[in-house]
Parts: sequence; structure tokens; C-alpha cells
Amino acid sequence: MPIAWYPGHMRKASREMTRLVREIDVIVEVLDARMPAASSNPVLQRLRGGRPCLHVLNKADLADPSGTAEWIRHFNQSPGSLALAQEKHGNLSVDQLIGHCERLLEASGKTGKGRQRQIMIVGIPNVGKSTLLNRILGRKLARTGNEPAVTRATQRVRLVRHWYLVDTPGVLWPRLEDQDAAYRLAAAGAIRNTAMEADDVAFFTAGFLLRDFPGLLSRRYDLQKLPETPEALLEELARRRGCLRKSGQVDWNKVSELLLTEYRGGRIGRMTLESPPPP
Ligand code: G4P
Repeated sequence: MPIAWYPGHMRKASREMTRLVREIDVIVEVLDARMPAASSNPVLQRLRGGRPCLHVLNKADLADPSGTAEWIRHFNQSPGSLALAQEKHGNLSVDQLIGHCERLLEASGKTGKGRQRQIMIVGIPNVGKSTLLNRILGRKLARTGNEPAVTRATQRVRLVRHWYLVDTPGVLWPRLEDQDAAYRLAAAGAIRNTAMEADDVAFFTAGFLLRDFPGLLSRRYDLQKLPETPEALLEELARRRGCLRKSGQVDWNKVSELLLTEYRGGRIGRMTLESPPPP
């Protein structure tokens, strides 16, 4: 089943972002370290214009460290771009963040001593923008969910010296034309409220786990011999973990939820699902 967003959401978010981005000096784009390409928003590239961008590879605790290092190298080699990794209980300080932003501005020749500077944190839903914002501001902000930014009054918060933060995370929707990327996002739990079945997503997940991470799978589920198909893998897990109906048949829904919960919680292992494009 194809995964799609409601176009109204996307249009509205994109209009807001166009308005907000005009005022911004450095964009902080939060990406999912497991899939920096799938979790980026192509519209942002256009909105960004020539603005420098700091890429935060978030949820790095769930990604393969060598994959994250590769992506950081990739971003650091692109003009006007820098990257850093963050984990669940990361300790990125305001000074470190602003230090990166200053380096980016200097590298792009945008000096202007003492001029007010504004940053904004943007990213797709559930990537960890609010968590990062709270960490940077060192306090809990009374906000949840992924409502478009314009529905709340946008405020600026002074961070240090002449640096300000637009105090609302900019929600961007990923482009879902590439169905494989869409399924990667769905598997990670990044796009929950869309028209798709957990069973579909679990089949996809079982498929790439078998193909790309057989070692992690056999270790996690103590499988001497790996099943050959996603269906057979889910059946095997259902039997081992008691996801069966009274009749003894596989409860596909239950075993799908089980696999997705384990995968999303990082219990199968740390995985990076995408490599950067060749230089
Ligand atoms: P958003 O504003 O971009 O929508 O994302 P938000 O900060 O609300 O974070 C979405 C979920 O991702 C939260 O989990 C949050 O705890 C988790 N998260 C954020 N950063 C990281 C990270 O670096 N590593 C890991 N592993 N998880 C991260 P949740 O289940 O929705 O809530 P809760 O369990 O924190 O209550």
C-alpha cells in the first residue's frame, strides 16, 4: 500500500517555512542518523537558498557509529554545511551549537560583527526537534505534537550574545515519492499517522533485516538458520514469542507490532540504513 501525506499539510507547512526561513541566518536541520537522506526534506534545500546549515544527526544511539561517521564526513565536505551527532541523552551545549554556527557563517563569508543572528531548528515529525530544543534551552517547553509552527505565536529566545533562536521547531514533511525511503521512515516510527498497515511495514522491515543485517537478527532471536523470506521470519518469531491465535495460527498483527517495537527501540542492534552518495 503506498504511503502518502495529506497534501494540505505539506503545502501549509511549506508556506510557513518560506516565511520563517527568510529571517534565519543558520538553519539547524535535525536528521535521523539511521537514514539521513530519507529523513531530510528536499523542499528545505530550495528554501534554504544560500544559508548555512548545521545537520544534527540525531538518534545516533540507534545508528551504526561508522555509518554516522561516514555521513558526518559527507556533510562536512559539502559547502555551507557542517554536521554533528547527538544521542538520546546527548549533552550539546548552547556554546557548542553556536560555535558551529559561527564557523559556518565565517566559512560562507557572512561576517558583520555584533549583528543579530537567528537560528531555527527544523526537521520532519518525531525526529527529535523538541528534545533538542529543550536540551539547548535547558528547560521544558510547554509544547507537544507536530502542529504547524504558525498556529502558535513564534517567539525568539536569546541564546548567547547576539544569537537568538526561533522558539518553535519547524516541522517539515518528508517527500514520500520514493516508497523505499517512505517505508524506512515508517519502520523507524517517523511517519505513524498515515494510511498504512503495521503488517505492511513489518514485512518491509523483516525484508531488509534479512537482507542487510542477518547477523544482528540471528543474534537477537537466537536463530541458527535464518528463514529465507520475510513471511517465514515473522512466522518463526510468532512461534518463538507466542504471537499465535487460539487456533494456533500466526497473529500477524501481534508479531508485526513485536518486530517493529523491538526494531524501533534499538533492541535488534544499531543500524544505518543508508550510505551517503559517492563524492
Ligand atoms: P519532534 O519534536 O521532532 O517531533 O520529536 P521529539 O523531540 O518529540 O522526539 C520524538 C521521540 O524521539 C521521543 O520519543 C524522543 O524521546 C525520541 N528521541 C529524541 N532524540 C532521541 C535520540 O537521540 N535517541 C533516541 N533513541 N530517541 C530520541 P517518544 O517515544 O515519542 O517519547 P518519550 O519516550 O521520550 O516519552
